Amino acid sequence: MVIKRIGILTSGGDAPGMNAAIRAVVRTALHYRLKVFGIRYGYQGLVDGDLIELDRGTVANIIQRGGTILGTARSQAFETRKGMARAKKIVDCFGLDALVVIGGDGTMRGAQAFMKRYGVKIIGLPGTIDNDLYGTDFTIGFDTAVNNALDAVDQIRDTASSLERLFFIEVMGRKAGFIGLAVALAGGAEEVLIPETKTSIPELIKKLNENIKKGKKSNIVIVSEGDEAGNAFTIARKVRQVLNEDYRVAVLGYIQRGGKPSANDRILASKLGNAAVEAIRKGIFGCMVGEVDRKIVYTPFKQTYTKRKKINKGIYRIIRILSE
Ligand code: F6P
Repeated sequence: MVIKRIGILTSGGDAPGMNAAIRAVVRTALHYRLKVFGIRYGYQGLVDGDLIELDRGTVANIIQRGGTILGTARSQAFETRKGMARAKKIVDCFGLDALVVIGGDGTMRGAQAFMKRYGVKIIGLPGTIDNDLYGTDFTIGFDTAVNNALDAVDQIRDTASSLERLFFIEVMGRKAGFIGLAVALAGGAEEVLIPETKTSIPELIKKLNENIKKGKKSNIVIVSEGDEAGNAFTIARKVRQVLNEDYRVAVLGYIQRGGKPSANDRILASKLGNAAVEAIRKGIFGCMVGEVDRKIVYTPFKQTYTKRKKINKGIYRIIRILSE
């Protein structure tokens, strides 16, 4: 079947670089004379029939913008039989031969379900700051989020060292410690807690105590959200119960997700967006397009969220050695 019309959506949490990916998909599709429809607010836009045609102009000047021009959502309606049936009607009504979906694990789950139930041809792109999708070394948005968090950590370091104060800084990542680990290494943190490794509060206290005795001027502990020991406030309180040390907590939150995408994210998004359309032309569907060892790879939707991308535990060790 010749593909003539495609739909594109962004779903789940927005991630910097999503716009660069939209632009790459649209421009590559137009290059091959395909018509492109932007679906607004993720799968919800398919349920509601909220689509607009995208031309060259609609994606001009967006490569440098954070968020997503299409809007995004976590649609509950699409998860219902009725909602998905309505979405299929919209796909048929607009004559969409294939879809490109950009998002995280929830987006890939949605794609898998839609494909399985109705045979819709879908190709996925990894767009999430969490970097927790199997089938790509990096997801679109991760690099920017790490850089955003890093800027904050550097600034907090000024206060931490001026006042010789202990800081607990919480970063995003949902159930994954990729952001935490990268920020800790690049920010020269003294300790990092990630969901993938068991957190021992006594060990943390021991390390911080040694640092203080050694005369370290500042101590920064990066806490990944989703750590089984609790959030940054809980962990700080547990430490304080034993270690008589003044501390402050900073939860970086949504500043990590916003702002202009880094060069790495724009490059990755442009490459993957282009590859998504090339995949469609080759008749490759049911997969997420990713980059592994600098090569484009296709991973079946189901594997992207059932297989676990491994954290590099070596980095964990390096952080400890470098902060001795
Ligand atoms: O998945 C991206 C992410 O920013 C996570 O790091 C975080 O846990 C979550 O989204 C926050 O979700 P929401 O935007 O619904 O508050």
